[in-house]
Amino acid sequence: MLGEKVDYWILKALADGRHRATEEELDQDGCSSLTAEQMGAKLPRVLERFEGHLPLSPDLHYLDMGCGSGELTLGLARHGAKHIVGVDYLPRFVELARRNAQNASIHADVAFECADLHTWNPPRKFDVVVSFDALEHIDDPGGFLKTMSRFLAPGGKAVLSFGPLFHSPFGDHMYEFFKVQLPWRGALFSENAMMRVRREFYRPTDPATRYQEIAGGLNLMRYSEFLRYAREAGWEFEFLQTNAFLKRRALRRFSISACSLPVVQDYLVHNVYAVMRRSADAETVAGPAAGEKLAA
Ligand SMILES: C[S@@+](CC[C@H](N)C(=O)[O-])C[C@H]1O[C@@H](n2cnc3c(N)ncnc32)[C@H](O)[C@@H]1O
Repeated sequence: MLGEKVDYWILKALADGRHRATEEELDQDGCSSLTAEQMGAKLPRVLERFEGHLPLSPDLHYLDMGCGSGELTLGLARHGAKHIVGVDYLPRFVELARRNAQNASIHADVAFECADLHTWNPPRKFDVVVSFDALEHIDDPGGFLKTMSRFLAPGGKAVLSFGPLFHSPFGDHMYEFFKVQLPWRGALFSENAMMRVRREFYRPTDPATRYQEIAGGLNLMRYSEFLRYAREAGWEFEFLQTNAFLKRRALRRFSISACSLPVVQDYLVHNVYAVMRRSADAETVAGPAAGEKLAA
């Protein structure tokens, strides 16, 4: 914003060291993915968001991409799914997910794999591939949206809920380590200054100097890029919703209109809820706004 040095001094003044943790400490306590209670409260709200487009059936096979602590995977099992595989590339999350599954007393066929989704060879195809709060983390999201089709059985669907997107007001995923929240911080401040403050106050042993190198990843995909990548990869939307950035009733209408404006939408859309199918032969390309609906 004002050059790397000045940015650093501003950010440093706003930083908060309370959540500082080394990678070793994170490995020990399983860390920042959602707990069973948090997911228990969150999942019904997310399912509601999809307005019935996320099928939950004991007959279908599910893949949870970027499963973190596995609580979503287990939550889906509690809501009726019976065959689920969760995949994550961070060993600490996969270990935690396996422990969570052992403690969950769930009667379902649930397995967790530690693998990079870009290169993972699935043992089977899945009827429903889901991903919650992970697409903004997965490196090369355009490439991933192409790769993802390998996981899907014919006629299957991909259900994605992700965000906040990096360029949205609070998309830098760094709220925990600042005392004062500045909207669009990630987009406004120099990456070097942000990452330096991150190392000094939050993750002293994560050597990341770029957002993409953070453990667990953080890509800088914009909403418009997601629409383009999905179209280029041959997906068509069965359902597409974004949240409005202003929640107050009086401002909601303005917010919804603003989120539909090209360029402006990249800085306002927080979260995306998408249900996608392969176009008939993956050659038919859907328009970006097919089925699109903006809601608060
Ligand atoms: C914010 S967490 C979300 C976890 C979980 N879905 C939830 O909702 O609690 C995003 C996850 O994506 C995983 N991830 C990112 N890139 C990945 C990749 N290429 N392959 C597998 N997992 C990946 C990260 O390790 C992280 O656990």
